[in-house]
Amino acid sequence: MSIANKAERLDRLLSRLGYGSRKDVKDWIREGWIEVAGQPASSPAQKVHADDILLEGEPLDHPYGLSLIYHKATGSVCSHKEQGQLIYADFPERWSHRKPALSSVGRLDKDTSGLLILTDDGALNHALTSPKRHISKTYEVTVSQPLDVELIKRFASGTLLLEDDDRPCRPAELTICDTTHATLVLHEGRYHQVRRMFAAVGHHVETLSRSHIGKLSLKQTGLMPGGYRSIRPDDLMKMIVG
Ligand code: URA
Repeated sequence: MSIANKAERLDRLLSRLGYGSRKDVKDWIREGWIEVAGQPASSPAQKVHADDILLEGEPLDHPYGLSLIYHKATGSVCSHKEQGQLIYADFPERWSHRKPALSSVGRLDKDTSGLLILTDDGALNHALTSPKRHISKTYEVTVSQPLDVELIKRFASGTLLLEDDDRPCRPAELTICDTTHATLVLHEGRYHQVRRMFAAVGHHVETLSRSHIGKLSLKQTGLMPGGYRSIRPDDLMKMIVG
């Protein structure tokens, strides 16, 4: 699932990893800032392997792909189309110039916090979102009015219809923790699904946080809001599907 370790032009490699333009690379070679396998780089066109490069004495940052486990804070947005501070502001600015681009695997809405995966690996993104895999998502929910145990059956029934949808929701597992707190496990991902499910049964969601993606829990990551950690796609899959 990662970009193959192929030789490529030095200027192309550094520009697609977000370091700078091809013109910048030319200047850095002239300044002697780039080493290739222990020798000063000779030309922007030189074919190189990413792990042979030192730029100002430092190895390249995630040259073979980037996948992250991230604790999204409330208030930030996942999409450029939404108003508000983008989640990408929590990562090094250089990453926003990487190709292929880093993108979130699904989304959490602005007022929702919790576990989010980001990757530049299309195969990993597909594996995590494919409906065939049914990777569950667990949410911690606070509502404003007391919860009724009847809701457990309604959410589990596979008949709950959301406003503007013509297909009922798949059965979901609701656990009522106390009067206004619950945990909901979903096996599909629709737009604002948790808020809309609670709205369909007359509840307003006050706070919402995603605590798990499959078996991976936010708690086990130890990440604070806005915090992230890079991870290899195969290790991530193991943590999620077990
Ligand atoms: N359901 C929602 O309502 N919002 C989210 O961000 C995720 C699931």
